[in-house]
Amino acid sequence: MTPGIKLLQLLDWDSPRQKARLREELAAGLLLPQATIAPKFFYDPLGSRLFEAITELPEYYPTRTEAAIFSEHLPAIREALGAGCTLIDLGCGSCAKAGKLFHAGVLPARYVAVDISVEFLRDSLQNLKRELPAIDMTGLGLDFTDELKLPDDLPPQRRMFFYPGSSIGNFNPHDARAFLERLAGQMDVTGGLLIGVDLIKEKALLDAAYDDALGVTAAFNRNLLRHVNARLDADFDIGEWQHVAFFNEAAARIEMHLEARRDIAAGWPDGSGRRIRRFAAGERIHTENSYKYSPDGFSTLLTEAGFADIRMWTDPRGWFALFFARQGSTRT
Ligand code: AVI
Repeated sequence: MTPGIKLLQLLDWDSPRQKARLREELAAGLLLPQATIAPKFFYDPLGSRLFEAITELPEYYPTRTEAAIFSEHLPAIREALGAGCTLIDLGCGSCAKAGKLFHAGVLPARYVAVDISVEFLRDSLQNLKRELPAIDMTGLGLDFTDELKLPDDLPPQRRMFFYPGSSIGNFNPHDARAFLERLAGQMDVTGGLLIGVDLIKEKALLDAAYDDALGVTAAFNRNLLRHVNARLDADFDIGEWQHVAFFNEAAARIEMHLEARRDIAAGWPDGSGRRIRRFAAGERIHTENSYKYSPDGFSTLLTEAGFADIRMWTDPRGWFALFFARQGSTRT
């Protein structure tokens, strides 16, 4: 272990209690008339790497567009965050985005990296610490969409939540608002939120971004079944499920599904034996939504969630937006 890193509350996917809980969750989703598997199952070590590969695809514009906004507006972003804050990176992945900010002179007193993919988090944080030994770094391995319990020794002032990449789009708008409210409740008026949001755009661009020619997004989607098989002893026949992704314009969201190529069954253990769900050819398992917002729509969401002093930076094509907001003073 690299000295100077603390790793806390590591989610142990393999503890018997956690396994039983995850199996219950899996069963609850798979036994719905419209079967679903939660997107958190994308992120085992291979899934995290596949997601990193997605971010480099020509069709997947969000990551590079967001990076360009950061480069273009760095002085304003640096000023908004201020020096010496606590930067709390939600879903840090490879920690590359925070690393870029640090190298560009945004220097927090403390960096708290949070991710559900525990092994990936540990490796990413070790690499970052080697590059930037002066920053105090803590890793939190947990599912922050469930509960975000911050380290007890974190000062209440100047907490800056960093939620790039438009992951807020993976919540439905109602849950997104509730999640943002919880973040606002974890800071005082000196705190803030820097968040990336993907904007509504032409359907063809969105369809391609989630169904790339190389098939990396398809592999990412199907890897969820491999993860569920490996972790929870399910027996999905992975080769018999195909990737389906499209922009649902009425709901302003990308939907990702896995579609059965033929009549097929899948089973998994539960306390009393094995549960089975049969799928007809063409039937789908819904694996992810990725909501897209208008600038006004997202500003309203932030305001409703208890944020104020909202600033927004976007790219010349208006494809992606970076918002900074402070906690609304009426809360304290
Ligand atoms: C993590 N999240 C913001 C990605 C998205 O664009 O919704 C996940 C993803 N799914 C398919 N491609 C990327």
